[in-house]
Amino acid sequence: DNYCVIMGGGIGSRFWPFSRESYPKQFLDFFGTGRSLLQMTFDRFSKIIPIENIYIVTNEQYASLVKEQLPELGESQILLEPARRNTAPCIAYAAYHIKACNPNANIVVAPSDHLILKEDVFLKDVQKSLDFVKDNNALVTLGIKPSRPETGYGYIQSSDIMLGEFTKVKTFTEKPDLELAKVFMESGEFFWNSGLFVWNVNAILEAFSKFLPDISLRFDLGKEKFNTTEERDFIAENFPYCLNISIDYGIMEKADNVYMLCVDFGWADLGTWGSLFDLAKKDEQNNALLKSEAIMYESNGNIVALDNPKRLAVIQGINDCIVAESGNVLLICKKEDEQRIKQFVADVQMKY
Ligand code: GDD
Ligand code: MG
Repeated sequence: DNYCVIMGGGIGSRFWPFSRESYPKQFLDFFGTGRSLLQMTFDRFSKIIPIENIYIVTNEQYASLVKEQLPELGESQILLEPARRNTAPCIAYAAYHIKACNPNANIVVAPSDHLILKEDVFLKDVQKSLDFVKDNNALVTLGIKPSRPETGYGYIQSSDIMLGEFTKVKTFTEKPDLELAKVFMESGEFFWNSGLFVWNVNAILEAFSKFLPDISLRFDLGKEKFNTTEERDFIAENFPYCLNISIDYGIMEKADNVYMLCVDFGWADLGTWGSLFDLAKKDEQNNALLKSEAIMYESNGNIVALDNPKRLAVIQGINDCIVAESGNVLLICKKEDEQRIKQFVADVQMKY
């Protein structure tokens, strides 16, 4: 059977001040469609995965937000982490839980902060990958042809070895520096890791025992507790001791059974304000106003996002900036410096 694991425990700090630790970006409705990014992710998968096989893994802190946004989910489909340990422990937790429900499950693991423009193509590719991992001991990643030397992504190097439509991966490099990203792009052999993974539960559990044995030994101790009333206590006691590491560094860079399906379904990672600017509708001055009212003079290439519908922004002589106001914070920052927002958040943490 097919299962889906949606990872929704990140804090999305580069989208501050809209994304707050108490209300991260996956719970926000950026486009005014009435559905948050998390809800849109769920809607997408519910077209090919039985609803009772869809899991959300998130931090305890967001339990009520998830329940409120996805009332379709049963209590046992929301897996709660008692500590922030990045995506490897998150994926391990889900794998152990699902293994206890179905020892031969095929799983698609998805982030909750992506936009997919061509849903039909997307669903076909996911289905194809789920069919592939049923018969192959492979860790599948969906790869995207890169369009710029982005340093925020993982890079997948393809090889000549193919299994059907799936290419054996030669190397996987998570978040290279700019110089290396440029080399990767120019070579034409590299693809972006979309962050969407597909595997059989036994293949990923085997990878954990090989490459992250600390996590797998710990969870093995409580193997029979998953999917029982004892799971919660076991997780509360053990999860915080897991290594804090992403699946990309922890497993994808090391495994030698990684395969890639090259995809093109209008993928956009809503990682930063700039990525949202690229996707948003722009006016004649190339300004993107997100659900906001603003009067702009001699100003180009800005993204303006005001959370308060009663607020009017009047802007003059400002170019290529992010103007974002939410709650008690107003941020004005050059678009090209948006990676620094993470640092701003850390700096003001004490105060706001
Ligand atoms: N449950 C849970 N717990 N979810 C988490 C945690 C956690 O501790 N940390 C992050 N997530 C969720 C985020 O909410 C997001 O949906 C997803 O996992 C990926 O985490 P990000 O923090 O957004 O990762 P990234 O964007 O830096 O990098 C990943 O995605 C890129 C594509 O968007 C990597 O897989 C890259 O290789 C990839 O290119
Ligand atoms: Mg991301």
